[in-house]
Amino acid sequence: MNIKIAPSLLSANFAKLADEIASIEKGADVLHLDVMDGHFVPNITMGPAVVKACRAVSKLTFDCHLMIEQPQLYIERFIDAGADMISIHQEAEHHLQRALQLIRDGGAKAGIAINPATPAESLSTAIEFCDFVLVMTVNPGFGGQRFIEPVVPKIRHIAQMIRERGLPVEIEVDGGIDAQTAPRVVSAGATILVAGSAIFGHQDRTAAMELIRASVTALKV
Ligand code: DX5
Ligand code: ZN
Repeated sequence: MNIKIAPSLLSANFAKLADEIASIEKGADVLHLDVMDGHFVPNITMGPAVVKACRAVSKLTFDCHLMIEQPQLYIERFIDAGADMISIHQEAEHHLQRALQLIRDGGAKAGIAINPATPAESLSTAIEFCDFVLVMTVNPGFGGQRFIEPVVPKIRHIAQMIRERGLPVEIEVDGGIDAQTAPRVVSAGATILVAGSAIFGHQDRTAAMELIRASVTALKV
């Protein structure tokens, strides 16, 4: 089982991003970058300029989670900034397939992000055109929120849909992931684990990542 740990930079110290990235560079598989516009979610974070600056100091796979309205308008900018994976929210995009194709045309992996209240069935068509599904296990906008347990059966449902259709689609989870909740989402079918406060909230980031990894390595899924 190949589980990827994706620290979310949202919980890092923004005054020293290069040092914060260096602290997880060994041990992390992916760097998760949360982009918020103050419209789709009630918070504002970073744009392509910050992603580009981080790109210059890291070799990790960059995963840009766009929590913004009209994401299509910004896909190219994030690709130019160095994104390797881009997810857009289904709730924010009227032309999902077109947007996913734009991401792929730019050479990045295309993801569909869904909020906790968005049902698995809504992915039925678009799932055929993506590389990963980002299942939110909190309502997007802020780090450090409590894991929403009733999302777990939805992860299982999406995993089943992927298996039945034989699609090469991965499931990423985001929100309230730590060593307690990681086993639950991995058992349900998630393989990319985003964690903000559970990693950057600790002094020893390597130990924090190891703790999460160790919580899922013994699982038989
Ligand atoms: C929330 C973001 C998450 C956030 C997760 O809207 O999408 O990536 O950083 O933070 P934790 O792991 O603290 O819940
Ligand atoms: Zn995120």
